[in-house]
Amino acid sequence: MEKVNLKTENLKKDIIKIFKKFGLSNNHALISANALINAELVGAYGHGLTRLKMYCDRISKKVINPKPKIKIKKISQSISHIDANNSIGFVAADIAIKKAIQNAKKTGVGLVAVKNSGHYGLSGYYAEQAVKKNLITMIYTNAPPAVAPHGALKSLFGTNPICFGTPTGSKIPFILDTSISMINRGKIRFAAKNNKKIPDGVALDKFGKITTDPKKALQGVQLPIAGFRGSGLAWMVDILSGVLTGGNHAGRVKDPFDDFSGPQNIGHLFITFKTNLFVKNYNNRIKNNIKKVKRLPKIKGVKEIVYPGQNKYKRFKMNSKKEIKLTEVIKKDLELLKN
Ligand SMILES: NC(=O)c1ccc[n+]([C@@H]2O[C@H](COP(=O)([O-])OP(=O)(O)OC[C@H]3O[C@@H](n4cnc5c(N)ncnc54)[C@H](O)[C@@H]3O)[C@@H](O)[C@H]2O)c1
Repeated sequence: MEKVNLKTENLKKDIIKIFKKFGLSNNHALISANALINAELVGAYGHGLTRLKMYCDRISKKVINPKPKIKIKKISQSISHIDANNSIGFVAADIAIKKAIQNAKKTGVGLVAVKNSGHYGLSGYYAEQAVKKNLITMIYTNAPPAVAPHGALKSLFGTNPICFGTPTGSKIPFILDTSISMINRGKIRFAAKNNKKIPDGVALDKFGKITTDPKKALQGVQLPIAGFRGSGLAWMVDILSGVLTGGNHAGRVKDPFDDFSGPQNIGHLFITFKTNLFVKNYNNRIKNNIKKVKRLPKIKGVKEIVYPGQNKYKRFKMNSKKEIKLTEVIKKDLELLKN
């Protein structure tokens, strides 16, 4: 993470203090605080401090293990399988991406599966780490039921993000990191917590009617992107991150906010590989590829065709200079958790 302003540094210290109070080690508290601050700085507020209380509640209720004994099983020089022992998801994901990077640096390809993990926040945050090491990456995680499979009356798939990252030959990485739902659940939770509306056409209430009320949306179903295509992508992510890894799948991942009956056992899959596996001049080729797209004639009102990750990178740079603005609800959470 880059250097952030003093108030952000103090906020980070507070978060570390809170996580330590709930039993996390120094290092695990730092990893978790960095991930939460990063979410705020890239403007992914639904995955930032709005979730701090939830993580602490889950630790208190013993469904997140603050002192996990994480096991890394070596399957080959390229492949590792991690049992996260119900750690906070940030820690499992941090270990996994570092392992995937290490494996790819050694052999060209890294494949790391994780089971018994929890919600890890933004896939793109981990993708950036691999891209910084000049690797291409694909990352998958499943999530609690939110989206109804195409043709079903009940939600079962999570918002299951799909993430792809690559170096671009310039300082801004290409990171496509998208939920398979019209909007991610974090945004709906953030709206519910702060009495805001959600956009029209992204969710149905429990009676199957379109709603802009986030509380009703949370009781109903979220709509996938592109109908049956989005439903198919969600299913693919559930198979790759759940069925394949030994994690929960088919709707068994527990909702982190509402279901304290046991750990989530989320699964993640991290794939990393070198850019020079098939061609020697990947950097030139990708630069050329992006240039071609950017030079296309633009529709009215569009100044620049941006690639995935470009706006987020700019937001991060801009927000890093400013103080993170906290809502009243989040300020109250922080005070409550600190004391
Ligand atoms: N851990 C979990 O369970 C979980 C679940 C769902 C989502 N998430 C995370 O939530 C985050 C937000 O997801 P989201 O679906 O709201 O993302 P989003 O809709 O904000 O962005 C999706 C993608 O589109 C790109 N994009 C946005 N505007 C663009 C434009 N004008 N031109 C070109 N590309 C553009 C972004 O760079 C991004 O890669 C992601 O980081 C995701 O990993 C996590």
